[in-house]
Amino acid sequence: MTLVAKRREDYRAPEFTITDIALDFTLDPSATKVVSELQVKRQDNANAPLELDGEHLQLLEVAIDDLPFGDYQQTDSGLVLNNVPDAFTLRIVTQVNPSENKALEGLYLSNGVYCTQCEAEGFRRITYYLDRPDVLARFTVKITGDKASLPTMLANGNPIEQGSNTDGTHWILWQDPFPKPSYLFALVAGSFDQLTDTFVTQSGKSVALELFVDKGKRQRGEFALEALKRSMRWDEEVFGLEYDLDIYMIVAVDFFNMGAMENKGLNVFNSKFVLADQASATDEDFFNVESVIAHEYFHNWTGNRVTCRDWFQLSLKEGLTVFRDQQFSSDMSSPLSNRIKQVRVMREHQFAEDASAMSHPIRPDEVIEMNNFYTVTVYDKGAEVIRMMHTLLGAEGFRAGMDEYFRRHDGQAVTCDDFVSAMQSATDIDLTHFSRWYSQSGTPRVEVKRAYDAASNKLTVTLTQQNLATADQSEKHDLYIPLQIEFLAADGQHVAPDSGMFRDNLVILDKPVTELTFTGKGSNITPVALGNFSAPVKLTSDLTPLEWLHTFRFANDAFSRWDAIQQLYNWCIEQYYQGSPQQIEKVIWQGLYEAVEASQDNPEILGECLVVPSFETLCQTRENIDVHALNEARQTFSHDLAEFMSDLLLVIYQTNQSDSYAYEPAQVSSRRCKNVVLTLLAELPLAETLITEQFSGSDNMSDTLGALKAAQQFDLVLFNNLMNEFEQRWRDDPLVLDKWFGLHATCDRSDILAQLTLLRQHPQFSQQNPNRVRAVIGSFAFYNTSGFHADDGSGYRFLTDYLLELDKTNPQVASRLVTPLTQWQHFAPSRQALMRQQLSRLLDDASLSKDLYEKVSKALA
Ligand code: ARG
Ligand code: ZN
Repeated sequence: MTLVAKRREDYRAPEFTITDIALDFTLDPSATKVVSELQVKRQDNANAPLELDGEHLQLLEVAIDDLPFGDYQQTDSGLVLNNVPDAFTLRIVTQVNPSENKALEGLYLSNGVYCTQCEAEGFRRITYYLDRPDVLARFTVKITGDKASLPTMLANGNPIEQGSNTDGTHWILWQDPFPKPSYLFALVAGSFDQLTDTFVTQSGKSVALELFVDKGKRQRGEFALEALKRSMRWDEEVFGLEYDLDIYMIVAVDFFNMGAMENKGLNVFNSKFVLADQASATDEDFFNVESVIAHEYFHNWTGNRVTCRDWFQLSLKEGLTVFRDQQFSSDMSSPLSNRIKQVRVMREHQFAEDASAMSHPIRPDEVIEMNNFYTVTVYDKGAEVIRMMHTLLGAEGFRAGMDEYFRRHDGQAVTCDDFVSAMQSATDIDLTHFSRWYSQSGTPRVEVKRAYDAASNKLTVTLTQQNLATADQSEKHDLYIPLQIEFLAADGQHVAPDSGMFRDNLVILDKPVTELTFTGKGSNITPVALGNFSAPVKLTSDLTPLEWLHTFRFANDAFSRWDAIQQLYNWCIEQYYQGSPQQIEKVIWQGLYEAVEASQDNPEILGECLVVPSFETLCQTRENIDVHALNEARQTFSHDLAEFMSDLLLVIYQTNQSDSYAYEPAQVSSRRCKNVVLTLLAELPLAETLITEQFSGSDNMSDTLGALKAAQQFDLVLFNNLMNEFEQRWRDDPLVLDKWFGLHATCDRSDILAQLTLLRQHPQFSQQNPNRVRAVIGSFAFYNTSGFHADDGSGYRFLTDYLLELDKTNPQVASRLVTPLTQWQHFAPSRQALMRQQLSRLLDDASLSKDLYEKVSKALA
């Protein structure tokens, strides 16, 4: 199989546009009829045929201006209509089969709920259309369905008319006044519990809020509704952006490929990102619900009101909206823990993507299957690029740029260049060089080195940027990197360089080498670089272990203090990995102890500092990795660390108990700190009582899960006992049981593959449900280091066997899960061979989906 990629360069404006579309659905599980009436207008003067996109459709009828039309061809990818007029009404009748649709793209039926997912190119599975984001039309949607089983029938915009038929069906007509691209269309029909509320906008308009959840789950939806109101208020306060329709609806569905979808006025959510209460959800779940609710709400302006010209521009809306939801979350809770969370995603996942065959710029140049580009690069690195603009422009300049962006482009489909140029116009900062971040892939390396000249008493700090070739781009250019930096003298006082700073604590690296000098201040100066993770780069420096401790004690930037401890852990683990842990002198252990001791009154930083870098993070700064040796080095270091400070850890564990549960920042930090400590203590025999007591005394899911994670670390017998209890309690609640599936799948045990087989046979497991598949297969492939990387290759084979099966029904999810197999670059050659062998098995499958084909063929190239 060879598939041709689409290229960003080849963009052409559409030859036709569609101004209005009237859709009429008659819902039926296996034969839903879709009547579509389009107002089509030719955009250029040529006599081009009208080429509509369409897949998996049964065509029943075509008419132009009310007359049957026969001058068309059906192709693999759509419908070509020849000799059409310049302006006309096109009527197309198609039929689709929602219950057979297991790919969960287009219109599908699951658990009795009809639901659509159209981004990126799912609308073409509903009807023939110009399914591209630069065609914006006004939608009117009529839905007819069974009254008893589908009491709720929703589409975008406002309901304007409804009625009943004599055959037991009813109908409703929805109208969305805002022209929109087809990817923002949505339809939902089913039977739900409904939560309602109102929000009064800053200009005094009242908006009806409606949240639809599975029957019986009403109470678990309350938090999401409150989060929605906080998001609406925040966007008014921070960006002056107000909601624009009379009604805002959110529906939670159980079968969903991704997190959620920002369809105009009708968001569809994976129920995982809506449902949360104290008993069933962890603090992290609450956090995720609030941030995804915010994310989708913020899309109403950054995505819907101003949308993408083509899919290569995806980061225009996603990078920007992730940045906005990150700012929101940070305002709702705590900036430091938020920033650390974001950086972990970058270091664990985005850096790995950049280092793999899937490396791409935040604005990709070539795409075979668009769904493969909803990536940590487009989303999270995209958000880092927006954040750098925020840093350069300052909060006020950034806001002015955003205002200008909306002033210029409201109602349009635009490009990333349009965005940068609006930002540029608002301040006098030149973003030309900066904009290379959009076109260049890869993680830049920044090196910090010092040289001291005693004769002139001058210290030179050299900052070097290096942009290495990636799989997709061999030629690289220097980037424009804003580097937050502070300098510490031996006594902990701050010192400033002679010159060369862009502003206080900010230096711009815009060429290969940037030098800063300190004259007359001696040689003993510690540069603390990459404050607040000011750029998505890998930093290396000549700091000594004692200087990392010095940084922790004296740096102003809280992120840098955390990062100093992480760098020190990384260094320590390296000593174990090299087989010489004795290199870690007593003063270093002691220094770590004192750092922890000194932070006891700050559970937030303490909790984060006691997290040892993940195996995935450790991989990003190493080559030719011996997986088991590195994993064991990490494990042994954790053990020794726990042992060295066990008395202190016990005190911290005891002091961070809260009596009645609330999801609020102080408690969240304290609970996290306690559970992180428990995981560390699980290295030691004394943990058993703590774990069992915490498990049995817990009144919330965070503490329950904390105990289970510690038990998983502690020993298999205890783990299995507690897990059985958990399963009894939650056996009828698959969403909660996903935590249980995930814990089993990440367990370090020699019979893990047999365990996975058992999990797949569990009554609550279903291969049709992406959440279940991610919980079992995804957790194993992404996070079970010992099992997935078993030396005989059995873990790789297991994943491959599974993907060959899953790809037949749900290529999107299969393609996400193949990621760990494609990231073989960091490992030792023998292991690379085992991984590539399985990738070859995938590629040998003649019926492989486009999705998997694109990733696998790249990984083998
Ligand atoms: N726009 C959605 C969001 O980030 C993501 C939808 C992507 N879905 C997909 N099948 N590619 O909020
Ligand atoms: Zn999004």
